[in-house]
Amino acid sequence: MPRYYVTTPIYYVNDAPHIGHAYTTLIGDALARWHRLLGDDTFFLTGTDEHGLKIQRTADANGITPLEQADRTSERFREAWKLLDISNDDFIRTTEPRHHLAVQTLLQKAYDNGYVYRGTYEGLYCVACEGYYNESDLVDGRCPIHKTPVETLVEENYFFRLSAFADRLLAWFEADPDCIQPDGKRNEAAGIVRQGLEDVSISRTSISWGVPVPWDPGHVFYVWYDALINYATAVGYGSDPERFAEWWPETTHLLAKDILRFHCVYWPAMLMAAGIENLPKLRVHGFLLVGGEKMSKTRLNQIAPSDLVEDFGVDGYRYHFLRDNSFGPDGDFSYEGMIVRYNSDLANNLGNLLQRVSTVVAKKCAGIGPAPRMDSPLAGVVAAAYNDAAAAWANTQPSVALEATWRIIRETNDYLQTNEPWKMEPGPECDAVMGDALEVLRVVTILASPAMPGACDVIWRRIGLSGSPRDERLPAAAAWGGYPGGLVIEAGDPLFPRRKA
Ligand code: MSP
Repeated sequence: MPRYYVTTPIYYVNDAPHIGHAYTTLIGDALARWHRLLGDDTFFLTGTDEHGLKIQRTADANGITPLEQADRTSERFREAWKLLDISNDDFIRTTEPRHHLAVQTLLQKAYDNGYVYRGTYEGLYCVACEGYYNESDLVDGRCPIHKTPVETLVEENYFFRLSAFADRLLAWFEADPDCIQPDGKRNEAAGIVRQGLEDVSISRTSISWGVPVPWDPGHVFYVWYDALINYATAVGYGSDPERFAEWWPETTHLLAKDILRFHCVYWPAMLMAAGIENLPKLRVHGFLLVGGEKMSKTRLNQIAPSDLVEDFGVDGYRYHFLRDNSFGPDGDFSYEGMIVRYNSDLANNLGNLLQRVSTVVAKKCAGIGPAPRMDSPLAGVVAAAYNDAAAAWANTQPSVALEATWRIIRETNDYLQTNEPWKMEPGPECDAVMGDALEVLRVVTILASPAMPGACDVIWRRIGLSGSPRDERLPAAAAWGGYPGGLVIEAGDPLFPRRKA
């Protein structure tokens, strides 16, 4: 059975979950759900990044220990993901013993292989990024991302010989264009490597909140070099070599462009340094902006997922963020835009189709759903849209996949509009049209279930099917003609009541 291992970044525990974190997590969830439909053995990982100066300082400011800070905020992420119906198979915390073991194992290997050495470092450090900058990276002397002042830090620490990997990284980018997608993001990574890679400092003596360096315990690893390893920890690195060997070659990391350098340059180099041959696939998206700006605590423009779930429901929320932005470029979130899309795609299109079908079946078919025609004009529409949707999911383009799926819904509403079954006499002709529409609903419910698992379960039941669309297997389940007919159709309240602006 093919395997699919997908990860989100692990989120810092100094900040509450907002729609930006949820954006990546939702994409991971939808991809995991899609792969489960394909019958792939799927493992979906998310979690929290709990070490480092930033967490230590936030804890100090809150008058609690770093672990208390981590416990509290990590729990908030778990709650947010529960609210959004996120189906992660594991939730990793970097303070767990399994992770410490993996970090120490991997970096000890890099050290033994001659890729880590001791030296002195002086640099310009942004605490919010947990990263050093070159003078030339700064904007008006400040961090280019957070716009906050940087600090000069001088330390005796261990260095990772990143400079040794430039050629191997470029060779990888070239040999396998699929390694980093979209293309523009791979070019950006190649640009970073071509500009020249300097060795990077990977340990600190100035803080204690981290994973101790195994060969020199006065040092802890700098948070990024601990954090990246979480992806390996969760599939058994350092503890279960067999499990690691099975899952690691199937890894896909999702992330936004803010952490491209760490994931697309440093992490593959670390893996090579530790002698791990398979490198992950990287899928890098843009920022979700609010009013044209990146969300941040300091700008007070963060939106919590729960605020929008209250207004649009979990599935309305999920659909919007998966459909609205294409994966790659930045996208601007607006509440008004969310209302417009909800009303058009969910209330008017999908909701309306379900409502029409259940009303007409109740009136003209005695409430029993008829079977579709094998030569229905909608069969070809479904087949073409399925191919497009499957290709889009495979290319990490949920928005394109959902657009293809909604094409089926629009065409079916047009088909009903043309045939006007509500004006027909009960009989074979009316049954045929309604059977076709029910078959469309069956397929659409399967195809939309990675985006809207809860609502799709409801539609599935309303059209008389038992079980859940998530138990179906693609591509067989998308083949025209699966709706058996003879099932009781449940009329119910509109699933997506219209929202007022
Ligand atoms: N802890 C590091 C990641 C370590 S992974 C080994 C970190 N954490 S973070 O909490 O800042 O999360 C950053 C990630 O959250 C982004 O890469 C992205 O996946 C997601 N997003 C946070 N804000 C976002 C937007 N405004 N828009 C899109 N994604 C956003 O960096």
